[in-house]
Amino acid sequence: MCGIVGVVAQRNVTPILLEGLRRLEYRGYDSAGVAVLADDNHLQRVRAVGKVVELERTLEATPAVGCLGIAHTRWATHGKPAEHNAHPHVSDGLAIVHNGIIENHSPLRRKLTDLGYVFTSETDTEVVAHLMAWHYRQTPDLLTAFRNTLAELQGAYALAMVHEDEPQNLYCARMGSPLVIGEGSGESYIASDPLALLQVTDRFRYLDEGDHARLTVDGCTLWDRQHSPVERPVKRYQHAALSLDKGEYRHYMLKEIFEQPEAIGNTLSGILGDNHVLTAILGPDAESRLASVDNIHIVACGTSYHAGLVARYWIESQVGLPCQVEVASEYRYRTVAVPANTLLITLSQSGETADTLAALRFAKDQGYLATLAICNVAGSSLVREADWRLLTQAGPEIGVASTKAFTTQLVALLWLTSALLQVRGRAADQVAANVAALRQLPALIDQVLALEPAIAALAERFANKHHALFLGRGPHYPIAMEGALKLKEISYIHAEAYAAGELKHGPLALVDENMPVVSVAPSDSLLEKLKSNLEEVRARGGQLITFACETVEQPGADGDTIRLPQVDDIISPILYTIPLQLLSYHVALVKGTDVDKPRNLAKSVTVE
Ligand code: F6R
Repeated sequence: MCGIVGVVAQRNVTPILLEGLRRLEYRGYDSAGVAVLADDNHLQRVRAVGKVVELERTLEATPAVGCLGIAHTRWATHGKPAEHNAHPHVSDGLAIVHNGIIENHSPLRRKLTDLGYVFTSETDTEVVAHLMAWHYRQTPDLLTAFRNTLAELQGAYALAMVHEDEPQNLYCARMGSPLVIGEGSGESYIASDPLALLQVTDRFRYLDEGDHARLTVDGCTLWDRQHSPVERPVKRYQHAALSLDKGEYRHYMLKEIFEQPEAIGNTLSGILGDNHVLTAILGPDAESRLASVDNIHIVACGTSYHAGLVARYWIESQVGLPCQVEVASEYRYRTVAVPANTLLITLSQSGETADTLAALRFAKDQGYLATLAICNVAGSSLVREADWRLLTQAGPEIGVASTKAFTTQLVALLWLTSALLQVRGRAADQVAANVAALRQLPALIDQVLALEPAIAALAERFANKHHALFLGRGPHYPIAMEGALKLKEISYIHAEAYAAGELKHGPLALVDENMPVVSVAPSDSLLEKLKSNLEEVRARGGQLITFACETVEQPGADGDTIRLPQVDDIISPILYTIPLQLLSYHVALVKGTDVDKPRNLAKSVTVE
């Protein structure tokens, strides 16, 4: 999704801006642009459709050099991907970049058109540029004009602005979309994601909702939404451990799949005792408050939602607490019945997903006992706004398709299940068994990763396929859902997941020799039921591809079964995720798609 970078320095900022944009490429975008203030104080704007490399080529022909600049990668919302819609947008000597959506852009556009402004794009952002120019005409003080502009905007934004009249200053503001200020020595930066700036700094201030700031080479001045001066603490970026390079891997996605043993090890470190879990990680009052939880609601989107669905099986079966799981885009707009003593859990890799964040804010007025964010990004909005936070330590996830963030979320949720048991003083044996199983995971995942060549061979079967079914039962049903999501998003094959028992209620009609049916068949109490479902598929000529436990007798047709180690049932959903990730990855290779940046998708969905 859209990305913002801005720099004020005593050297040419264009290379820093471009490197920042390259680092944001993983988020998904369709065009890019920069605006740099030249030494003679005139704005140079360069934009290009397509990848950042196209912008670089354009800049070779039309260089933009100067000490103050802003840059943007755009993911089209208002107006098609085209150069005239790309940011920055300009008006009367100023340039603006924007992430988010200005909901009242239509009335503002009408008002500005009546005032004589001519629009060259279909974007909501150009409205902000002209509005800012108009306010600056009314009050020749740029900061006041900036504030007056912000006061008229409805919706979500992270904004950055430079003006020819103030060549030392970069202005920015945040409301509903993330923005950080980076501290350098003798230079200052902004970005929508700290990853964009890690080449120049690891020190960041995270803006609160309504904050706005003016940056110079000496630092920044910050104000809150009431225009009162505020300080936001400088924090060191915590993701240094797992590197941002692809290293020996062909794609980030593959690298991130293979990082899972380490990511899970990092997530577990500091939260497990020898045979118990360390609840103090949630804060001093966590034990007593967790003990009083009677219900759980989990809210998330996409892959994170699937992690919540698995957790429901764990929480209800082990702790006996009712647990409801819902996609955030639905939850946030309905009337929710919240029983007494309900804990709300939001799950998110990025912590900036607009629907999940809105759900958390909505939940604040619904009478929950407490809110907990399980998230991979320490400084994210979700983490800052929840009562409790549990950080997964997956490291930066660059591939758009979520992999290690999902399995580390599952690990965090199994930790939580164990914590809920432990604070009730119940089932110490079960807690100890969960802890032991969690500790085994990194080594077990290494064993499954070694199956990659066999899984790659299976992927060839999808070369001419357009549809696939994924089957699972119990906690492996959400794992089948996650497998189907992975396949469709990176290979563009239409994939659907079903609880295997549902097959005969409709989807069986789809099964013939052109329909691959991928199933997850661990050795658990539902295996015999699943085998019957697979027989139904086999009888109709469906192509069975089965991931089964090494101890299970022939669940699929000859040659189509990949064997996984036998493990404790509780961690089995985590283990069976790995081959499905590898299968999707290799099918995408066979199909020749852009694995790390699938079409139409964005890494962090910061608009509704
Ligand atoms: C799929 C995927 C998405 C995200 C979803 C939520 O591979 O990555 O479905 O899981 O957009 O994102 P987060 O977890 O950042 O809230």
